[in-house]
Amino acid sequence: MAIEDRGDAHVITHALAKHMLSELRSDETGQVAFRDGLIELGRLCGFEIVDGMMDTEYVSITTPLAETTGEVVKGIDDVVIVNVLRAATPFVEGLVKAFPQARQGVISAGRDEAAGMNEAGEFPITVDYVKIPDINDDDTVIVADPMLATGSTMVAVLEEVFDIGRPERLIVLSAVSAPRGLHRVEEAYPAVDLLTVAIDERLDEEGYIVPGVGDAGDRAFGT
Ligand code: URA
Repeated sequence: MAIEDRGDAHVITHALAKHMLSELRSDETGQVAFRDGLIELGRLCGFEIVDGMMDTEYVSITTPLAETTGEVVKGIDDVVIVNVLRAATPFVEGLVKAFPQARQGVISAGRDEAAGMNEAGEFPITVDYVKIPDINDDDTVIVADPMLATGSTMVAVLEEVFDIGRPERLIVLSAVSAPRGLHRVEEAYPAVDLLTVAIDERLDEEGYIVPGVGDAGDRAFGT
């Protein structure tokens, strides 16, 4: 099993995920390789979600030669993927390879860095654009953001998602998380499954994850 319960979060321990994340971390990885790396990591995370978090069921199949029994993933077509713009865009491009039938939503939310940090050491969050498909009771919703830092953007995003519907399961998927962000989301939404590839040490004074990967959006988009 390549997903471990570490208390704070479920961690994807697949060797390839660690390898890909190490490439993303390096400051020698340029824009195109960074974007492609996020796509590949998203794809692997999708496969790990299917393998480690979804059930299978047996079905009867007729091949061109005989009747047989096959195994399929339950609910694989009842998935909604929410892309937290902008850094999640390449991550989601990979993720949908595991869920080709997924409905997709986008949310533009992020820190208002110009407003500065408040007394709690957090930037105010602005939500500029929300377009999420209907969410049904039996859906699995995956909210993807490669960097879960303070958790305040994610809490604002989850508020929007739960305004649309209450899915059977909601997974917050990140590549790198800070302990503070994990605690923040867990406190606000204890029923949510937190899934990540790495739990890093801390946040710096500007709210970046250390050691992290730097600004994932800037690195993926070359800004
Ligand atoms: N967003 C990023 O892109 N990087 C961080 O370290 C924190 C938030």
